[in-house]
Amino acid sequence: MANGDKGGWKEYLWNPRTREFLGRTASSWGLILLFYLVFYIFLAGLFALTMYIMLQTLDDHKPTWQDRLATPGMVIRPNTDETFEIVYNIQNTESWDMYAQALDKFLAPYNDTLQAQKNHECTPDQYFQQEDSGDVKNNPKRSCQFNRTILEECSGLNDRYYGYREGQPCIIIKMNRVIGMLPGKDGQTPSVTCAAKRDDSDKLGELVYFPPNGTFNLMYYPYYGKKAQVNYSQPLVAVKFLNITVNQEVNIECKINANNIPLGGDRDKFAGRVSFKLRINTIN
Ligand SMILES: *[C@@H]1O[C@H](CO)[C@@H](O)[C@H](O)[C@H]1NC(C)=O
Ligand SMILES: *[C@@H]1O[C@H](CO)[C@@H](O)[C@H](O)[C@H]1NC(C)=O
Ligand SMILES: *[C@@H]1O[C@H](CO)[C@@H](O)[C@H](O)[C@H]1NC(C)=O
Ligand SMILES: *[C@@H]1O[C@H](CO)[C@@H](O)[C@H](O)[C@H]1NC(C)=O
Ligand SMILES: *[C@@H]1O[C@H](CO)[C@@H](O)[C@H](O)[C@H]1NC(C)=O
Repeated sequence: MANGDKGGWKEYLWNPRTREFLGRTASSWGLILLFYLVFYIFLAGLFALTMYIMLQTLDDHKPTWQDRLATPGMVIRPNTDETFEIVYNIQNTESWDMYAQALDKFLAPYNDTLQAQKNHECTPDQYFQQEDSGDVKNNPKRSCQFNRTILEECSGLNDRYYGYREGQPCIIIKMNRVIGMLPGKDGQTPSVTCAAKRDDSDKLGELVYFPPNGTFNLMYYPYYGKKAQVNYSQPLVAVKFLNITVNQEVNIECKINANNIPLGGDRDKFAGRVSFKLRINTIN
């Protein structure tokens, strides 16, 4: 029996009589291999075709899928970490010098000479539209100058410490880029306003905005994307705190005002606004 079993197994592996390998003839095996070959080539072809069609529909200059982000986020500079806290001691140069350096670095691309080289002098108070005409791409698109001098006392040009040394610090606010966004409506210019949160309102003191009224000029919109608008400079608004209470924490919130940018409700409470903590110490 054992012998017969062994023979049966051997015969299954290779049967010289019927010339079958693992129970199949060479031509049967050939057909199976051919079938799988054709099947996988077909699958690969289908995959390649799908990819090709997908890629055809993508535009290099514009994301196909963009979240319908009606309300852009806002950020402040200088930011030393993600918590948006500016805490320093007037008497301790080291504690605020890093903020001045961060602003120097951030504002370097806004130097007037650089802006004049890279960007275009646009007509203020109107959108700078550069649409494509049909399939003809109007690329590269020009961008408008945002000169550092617009920020006046917060430009770091006259006062290289941005007011930090005098306890009148400047904070710079920018709105995240959203492709195609046209903020403001009917010629109304979007602007930033800052206020103290909760019980801190009597500590805030007077503030001054640069440019005046804290506006983002309409000429910086729409933004067409990094590839189409290579030299785009995001417009900025600077806020200078002229008489903020020292030795106390002041919680501040700045928000964008534009009649067609709804402030994010519960869905995104950071949209269209930015909060930060400012504390200036004077005691050693
Ligand atoms: C920008 O201007 C400031 C002051 O004029 C200068 O110190 C700085 O080096 C300039 N930066 C660039 C990148 O040109
Ligand atoms: C920006 O500064 C440059 C150089 O000083 C100047 O030629 C240009 O007119 C300024 N642009 C705007 C929009 O003020
Ligand atoms: C972008 O800036 C460079 C100089 O840095 C300039 O040569 C180029 O023409 C600018 N491109 C556009 C589209 O304005
Ligand atoms: C700032 O806003 C006030 C009041 O809305 C307006 O009268 C003034 O013309 C604005 N200033 C600038 C420079 O836009
Ligand atoms: C600065 O704020 C203090 C109260 O915090 C107030 O007494 C003082 O008059 C203010 N100074 C100016 C110039 O507004």
